[in-house]
Amino acid sequence: MNYPKRVNLVEVGPRDGLQNESQHIDLDLRIDLINKLTDCGFSVIEAGSFVSPKWVPQMANTEKVLASIRPKAEVFYPVLVPNKKGLEGAMKANVSEIAIFGAATDGFSHRNINCSIKESLDKFRPIVKEALSNRIRVRGYVSVVLGCPIEGEVNPNVVADVARQLLDMGCYEISLGDTIGTGTPTKTKILLDCVAQYVAIDQIAGHFHDTYGQALVNILASLEQGVSTFDCSVAGLGGCPFAGKNATGNVATEDVLYMLNGMSIKTGIDLNKLILVGDFVCKKLNRENASKAGKALLNGMIKEGN
Ligand code: HMG
Ligand code: MG
Repeated sequence: MNYPKRVNLVEVGPRDGLQNESQHIDLDLRIDLINKLTDCGFSVIEAGSFVSPKWVPQMANTEKVLASIRPKAEVFYPVLVPNKKGLEGAMKANVSEIAIFGAATDGFSHRNINCSIKESLDKFRPIVKEALSNRIRVRGYVSVVLGCPIEGEVNPNVVADVARQLLDMGCYEISLGDTIGTGTPTKTKILLDCVAQYVAIDQIAGHFHDTYGQALVNILASLEQGVSTFDCSVAGLGGCPFAGKNATGNVATEDVLYMLNGMSIKTGIDLNKLILVGDFVCKKLNRENASKAGKALLNGMIKEGN
């Protein structure tokens, strides 16, 4: 199998992870988490969102987080931006990357950003233009690409069309979000074949939530198709607050990294440091660590030869 030799892991825990916590999250924890992840060697760490604090209270004060982290020069710290107000906030905070986020169904688009797909794309166009003219690079998300909590099955052609429009606006990369984790490897392959008609495979990222335990196999299926960028969340934190009660976090970064290390695919990320970050954030949040590899390595199973 011709797998990519190098994979870019986008750490989304500080945003996708923490946005879904029901408890109050201290700014200090958000800042510490980003600093610790920076030390692990990621080149992209999603740092927060400039969205309505009434809709997503956990991401309020992202500007304060950005002002307090210790950024590394070569690392990008993108933030989610849904509209003009969000872009203004992000620009004031001097970001070098934003992410706009659309969806493949009108039902989910309404629930997440209170407008239809078409309205969202019309809103995004001037935002991307302004961002690019200020040398801010823009990533585009498409949510519910492999199933929607409101509309059920999703047509891959609709995903491909939204992805194409985001690319045409000027997004450098399109992240395909399996928001509720219902995808399987066969569906993933069909989807990628469809989207790759319009978006180069090296501009596609996989964003798999692990609700049905399919995220790792879907990543493997995507690697087989040549995808070389994946979003993941340390300790498997999080999920989208508008994806439904049972929706869980992204695939755990530790699990993806363990698999890639075993396949001799390079990432530049230090797994030993990362498992300690997973442990740190779970203890702070008093939650179970959702990374199997993280837990096994922490328990010393490998060392003991069990
Ligand atoms: P709206 O109510 O239609 O917006 O919400 P509005 O323009 O009518 O404004 C309503 C209020 O929100 C006003 O305040 C605005 O000032 C304020 P009020 O006058 O009532 O006090 N407001 C804002 N405040 C701060 N920053 C802003 C902003 N915009 C308006 N940027 C809106 C529309 C998009 C704002 C809202 O729906 C929203 O914030 N949604 C949050 C969406 C979100 O963050 N979802 C989770 C992230 S997406 C995700 O997790 C999926 C992903 O991981 C991929 C995957 O897994 O599929 C990316
Ligand atoms: Mg997500």
